[in-house]
Amino acid sequence: MTKVLFVCLGNICRSPLAEAIFDHKCKLKGLAEISSDSAGTGAYHIGSQPDPRTIKIAQENDVYINHRARQFKEEDSTEFNYIFAMDESNYENIIVMLGYKPDHLFLLREFEHNFSKNDDLNVPDPYYGGSDEFKKIFDMMSISIENFIDEKLR
Ligand code: 4NP
Repeated sequence: MTKVLFVCLGNICRSPLAEAIFDHKCKLKGLAEISSDSAGTGAYHIGSQPDPRTIKIAQENDVYINHRARQFKEEDSTEFNYIFAMDESNYENIIVMLGYKPDHLFLLREFEHNFSKNDDLNVPDPYYGGSDEFKKIFDMMSISIENFIDEKLR
């Protein structure tokens, strides 16, 4: 069983959407023996459903989403085979919480490969944005997730 964890700040916008896209793609590709989860480095939204705008963009793309927010915890670093931080701040927070950088911790967009040189590797926080931001992060995360599955899980 390969276990994959997606981590953002609140665990209501980006990481539950990444988890749902990942599950959707694994199903389409017929991959079994894979499980996924998502978590937030922050505690503000523990127990909450995904943001309505996250649910909307998932549904518009026929991606099933069902998650309750939880906070990243130390045991996650040993339980999961791959941990994907959505942005550099999440990445640094994970390292601070653990006290070391696990070899299996990545920025999700490291798998985008052909990002522009002027671009950073963050999936931008869409919380204060509009629905166009959610469309943008859906498309952005889909590219990296597709590449990761094809390169590491097939
Ligand atoms: P997420 O977005 O990290 O993608 O879930 C956020 C959700 C909530 C907050 C910030 C980012 N917040 O400040 O409450």
